[in-house]
Amino acid sequence: MHIPVLKEEVMQYLNPKRNENFIDCTIGEGGHTFAILEKTGLSGRVLGIDKDNRNIKLVKDKAKQNNFSNRLIAKEDNYINLKKIVQKEKFSKVSGFLFDLGMSSWHIDSSKRGFSFQKDEILDMRYSIKDELTAWDIVNSWPPEEIESILKSFAEEKFSKKITSAIISRRKIKKIDTAIDLAEIIKNIFPKIKKIHPATKTFQAIRIAVNSELQNIKKALPDAIEILEEGGVISIISFHSLEDRIVKTFLKQSEEITVITKKPVVPSPKEIINNARSRSAKLRVAIKNKTK
Ligand SMILES: C[S@@+](CC[C@H](N)C(=O)[O-])C[C@H]1O[C@@H](n2cnc3c(N)ncnc32)[C@H](O)[C@@H]1O
Repeated sequence: MHIPVLKEEVMQYLNPKRNENFIDCTIGEGGHTFAILEKTGLSGRVLGIDKDNRNIKLVKDKAKQNNFSNRLIAKEDNYINLKKIVQKEKFSKVSGFLFDLGMSSWHIDSSKRGFSFQKDEILDMRYSIKDELTAWDIVNSWPPEEIESILKSFAEEKFSKKITSAIISRRKIKKIDTAIDLAEIIKNIFPKIKKIHPATKTFQAIRIAVNSELQNIKKALPDAIEILEEGGVISIISFHSLEDRIVKTFLKQSEEITVITKKPVVPSPKEIINNARSRSAKLRVAIKNKTK
């Protein structure tokens, strides 16, 4: 099960009230969405989006069990299509947005898509199995310059050249099929590094490339501001520095909003003890300015 990150803090900032509407761009298993729906009866609705069909099915089932079906619209889609989805659903008067970026615990633990470097699973890393590009394609067929480039720009990997040449040498002999295969190739270059697995950044970069994560968030944030009601709240949880930089810069530069988190909100020590995966989370929040 995915434990929702910074749930109390997100709820404080979104402050959902009766009959208000919200958009959860990354509904996942619905941890934040159901907390919002609890507060927005009798007619407040949530439009929830997720690329992963498994999560959409799951939240629809949960909504049925908890009598929320009539107030939850769950869409299997990429939030990059936010404007189109909102138009199609005629969803309006949006009091708040949530983006809880990246992957869910299910993706790492149970999806069997090679997100974890500890697992003997085919290198896939897609959030939507309907997408074409997989991690396998990247490591086994991309030219070295492109692999090196994503390692640098999506993970700031200092050893991008070394790692790329190890990948290229190995794939000439045998295809790199599984997450463990890839992790081992990188581990063999840095046998002495023990604290953080030396493949951590490579896995991050490949996952970001497979799912176009940085492009998606760059496109969706201005669209969300356009859709948001004046006085409405936009909240974004990011999990690594590149993502957070994009969010921070956007919020700072956008003239239509006022940032209300001077510093990013981070999980309490208690939350980190209960859920180690929350440790790198950063929440930033802004309010859409009123024009009158
Ligand atoms: C961190 S999880 C969200 C967890 C959720 N807040 C909860 O508490 O259960 C992020 C989710 O966003 C989805 N996702 C990632 N990129 C997406 C995109 N571009 N469009 C739609 N969903 C996306 C993933 O499939 C994943 O389920």
